[in-house]
Amino acid sequence: ALAPAFAPALIAWQRSHGRSTLPWQNTRDPYRVWLSEIMLQQTQVVTVLGYYARFLERFPAVSALAAASEDEVLGLWSGLGYYSRARNLHRCAQDVVARFGGRFPASAQELQTLPGIGRSTAAAIAAFCFGERVAILDGNVKRVLTRVLAYEADLSRSANEKTLWDAAQQMLPAPAAGEASGADDTMARYTQGQMDLGATVCLPRQPQCLICPVQRLCRGSAAGNPERYPVRERR
Ligand code: ADE
Repeated sequence: ALAPAFAPALIAWQRSHGRSTLPWQNTRDPYRVWLSEIMLQQTQVVTVLGYYARFLERFPAVSALAAASEDEVLGLWSGLGYYSRARNLHRCAQDVVARFGGRFPASAQELQTLPGIGRSTAAAIAAFCFGERVAILDGNVKRVLTRVLAYEADLSRSANEKTLWDAAQQMLPAPAAGEASGADDTMARYTQGQMDLGATVCLPRQPQCLICPVQRLCRGSAAGNPERYPVRERR
């Protein structure tokens, strides 16, 4: 009975010990959340902070970004690396304007049709901005979940990754009783909690199980070897 206890423990921990002052938190503006998620895909928080502030100053809304030249966007991105992210960012802004009238669509499924927005990024935006009950599965969350589940299968095989996506969906907070699930912050807390746990406690080399809010639920920790997850098939 792992799943029912996992989300509540993580959410309570996020409230007291998670990050809450990053500039892309405490907003439900999809433009701001999207920009932060793209920048954070392959870049550390400390590096992103300055770039994020400069982008928002120059492009306060998605329409301004869409209207810029690609050269200007690439110039502001210079130093962040992985420049296909910047090209997709620009294309995505133009798509949001052309296809959605300048407003980001409000579901993970539609968000995923935009350039540079994969399944996990779409889910993060939908959970943060719209409270959608949908799982993320980025590198940090893969580590957290494979440890908690003692998941042995090789994630480089797509069938195994699919199985982990299904498990992630099953670990989500219970559906809200009422209808307005977007009104409360359960999914935003839970999603941020997974990211925060992966970044500050469930570390790649030295997981800090002593301070982990889900240690009592964690099969990897119970077996005494959480650091071996995610398992990589040697080949
Ligand atoms: N990495 C990816 N998304 C993040 C977020 N919302 N906060 C902190 N780090 C992140």
